[in-house]
Amino acid sequence: MSVPTETRLTQVVPDVIQAIHEVLERHQVTEEEWLAALRFLTEVGRADEFILLSDVTRTSVLIDALSHTDEDGATASDVEGPLYRDDPPWREHRIYEDYEGMGEDAEVLLVRGDVTSTDGTPLEDAVIDVWQTGPDGGYDLWDSRQPAYNFRGKLRTPGGKYEFQTMLPKPYTVPTDGPVGRYLEAIGQHPWRPAHIHFKVAAPGHKTLVTQVFFPDDPYLENDTIGAVKPALVRPVEPEGDHLACRFDISLRSA
Ligand code: BEZ
Ligand code: FE
Repeated sequence: MSVPTETRLTQVVPDVIQAIHEVLERHQVTEEEWLAALRFLTEVGRADEFILLSDVTRTSVLIDALSHTDEDGATASDVEGPLYRDDPPWREHRIYEDYEGMGEDAEVLLVRGDVTSTDGTPLEDAVIDVWQTGPDGGYDLWDSRQPAYNFRGKLRTPGGKYEFQTMLPKPYTVPTDGPVGRYLEAIGQHPWRPAHIHFKVAAPGHKTLVTQVFFPDDPYLENDTIGAVKPALVRPVEPEGDHLACRFDISLRSA
């Protein structure tokens, strides 16, 4: 049973304020420093970068860990990040269009798997929503060469199975042109993420799963700027004919 919002607020907020006061006292923070901190947070809000700040401070990873503690055979969850877009187009198979300058070394990747309940029942009426960067490291939102919703899409799961055609993504940097980028620079934290594909999977009677899939041998697997890599979510990529293939089975827990 969920606790009413007011009760949670009266439980949590005084502790948050006490923790902030303790840090300010311990470090003898000056008036100037506190005002600079408030100006920074104001900028973060204006730039719509609070999710990004939560991600790069690894707070999102902590909340994910606190929110999904069961070990019941369900696929591990992961952070959503700030780059999800509502209502992507339905896709039959291919989730992208070619675009000028997409890179000659771009590699076609088929991703496929079973979608089941944790008891093994195939989920025929799940919806898989995927999003990722193109093969040279950019999301459609940042890359004016790409059509809107490129490398995004919703897929159905007939027979409890799915497959889609994409390009192997590459490592990329989180946005660095705003206040969070300045913060990363100031504390000496690099902005790179390992290559990954985001998944949001919903099925009637089941908890929606938000997760990411990573690939072996990525230089940032051990060193993701948002700390979101889970070994259970690293999946091999194998050559298959003239393309690559990756299997990612998905198991959802019932609601
Ligand atoms: C992403 O994986 O899309 C992402 C996550 C955190 C910050 C920025 C981007
Ligand atoms: Fe991403």
